[in-house]
Amino acid sequence: MLYVPGSNSRAIDKAQELPVDAVILDLEDSVAPDHKLAARTQVEAVLESAEFGHREVVVRVNAMDTPWGKSDLAAVASLPISAVLIPKLESERQLEACRGALHMGGAKDNLPFWIMAETPRGILNLRTILESDQPIAAIVMGTADLAKNMGIPRGSERAGLRSTLEHCVLVARAFGVSALDGVETDLNDPERFESACLEGKQMGFDGKTLIHPNQVATANKVFGVTTEQIAQAIKIVEAWKTAPEDTGVMVVDGDMVEALHYEQALKTLADNREIGKRGKDDE
Ligand code: COA
Ligand code: MG
Repeated sequence: MLYVPGSNSRAIDKAQELPVDAVILDLEDSVAPDHKLAARTQVEAVLESAEFGHREVVVRVNAMDTPWGKSDLAAVASLPISAVLIPKLESERQLEACRGALHMGGAKDNLPFWIMAETPRGILNLRTILESDQPIAAIVMGTADLAKNMGIPRGSERAGLRSTLEHCVLVARAFGVSALDGVETDLNDPERFESACLEGKQMGFDGKTLIHPNQVATANKVFGVTTEQIAQAIKIVEAWKTAPEDTGVMVVDGDMVEALHYEQALKTLADNREIGKRGKDDE
């Protein structure tokens, strides 16, 4: 999921060509106060005509306690987007206020929220936020803000945030929403970027938020499905399907396989089909 500053028209153009699953048009942290209104107008104009193809488009608005939050929400309410990303969210009540502002702009009740997990209080309250009846589709880690709020020095974010990242994946899974890992700001260290992607994948994150086109290929590789994983999944599915009906456990290539592994293999194949479909409109 690639962030693009709403004020940067060149980057917005470029994002429409990149092999990403989602483009997050940002009106918040990457836009300077003096450019907030122009960025919003530009995002509105872009969404009237741009071609994002298979890419989901999400707009990150400013928080409700800023001078722009309410009118950002009213402005994006009628745009053709997949979700609105709410920053610095700390309570169910704030999310209700966001819903109110969307309503004022004429949004449908079911326009989903993506929510940033980036303040200690917001993370402690994730459970009650997700228990609200608001349509929430994803938790997005705001690792830069979170590290700042927690007092973690720059460069040590992954180590300092480990248990918090794991906690947020747990909450996402408990409520059946997607979990998206935070950004890496160091653009000069591709190895460090790849190991951060791998760490997120191992924790169970569904994908990663990105800030630069150079990060896209690695993220797609790590969060996608490898040919070995596909081959293994096909073996498991074949073995399970051809086994006698009362089979509860079997061995495939020296590995114990139960119904849950069969289900995991089916998911791997379904994910692979979905990723395949997503490339089609660029051909
Ligand atoms: N999305 C799409 N295209 C992007 C991009 C992005 N996030 N970041 C850079 N590009 C494009 C540039 O426009 C440039 O295109 P061009 O070759 O056609 O001119 C190309 O990629 C190379 O960019 P580069 O010169 O390496 O980067 P930069 O110095 O212009 O910008 C950043 C670096 C970090 C300022 C920029 O990548 C950026 O704004 N990223 C997103 C920041 C953001 O949204 N933050 C909020 C969430 S944390
Ligand atoms: Mg932020």
